[in-house]
Amino acid sequence: MIALGSDHGGYKLKEEIKKYLDEIGIKYKDFGTNSEERCDYPEFAEKVAKAVQTKECEKGILVCGTGFGVSIVANKFKGIRCASCWNEEVAKLLKGHNNANVIALPGRFINISQAIVILRAWIATEFMEGRHSERLQMIENIENENMK
Ligand code: RB5
Repeated sequence: MIALGSDHGGYKLKEEIKKYLDEIGIKYKDFGTNSEERCDYPEFAEKVAKAVQTKECEKGILVCGTGFGVSIVANKFKGIRCASCWNEEVAKLLKGHNNANVIALPGRFINISQAIVILRAWIATEFMEGRHSERLQMIENIENENMK
């Protein structure tokens, strides 16, 4: 199950992503927003991050204008690794090196065809383990020290 969320800047792309996930048979839970009316991205990023953090959902997709706002919020949650992703190559690295459990997309800068290529790469790529696991352990240590 994938947690989905956006603000107004990502709403249209989120809706198209839902059609794509329906097509490929991946289940999702949509945490909103539900229109193009102006809203606040922290609200929706928090819902998605919590769903992934509590394991209600196994991963998350967030969309705002740039992908930056939602990723800043998502990364405030212990155990969430999220970044804004704009092409296939960075999507592969985001999963392969960082094992990102939430991906953020820039709804005002990419279209659905580009989003599909990115999501396909992020979903299909395996985490590379090895030295990258050691770095994730360092992140976890930092979280344990700084996120009480
Ligand atoms: C909303 O105008 C915009 O600030 C938001 O979608 C996002 O890009 C923030 O990072």
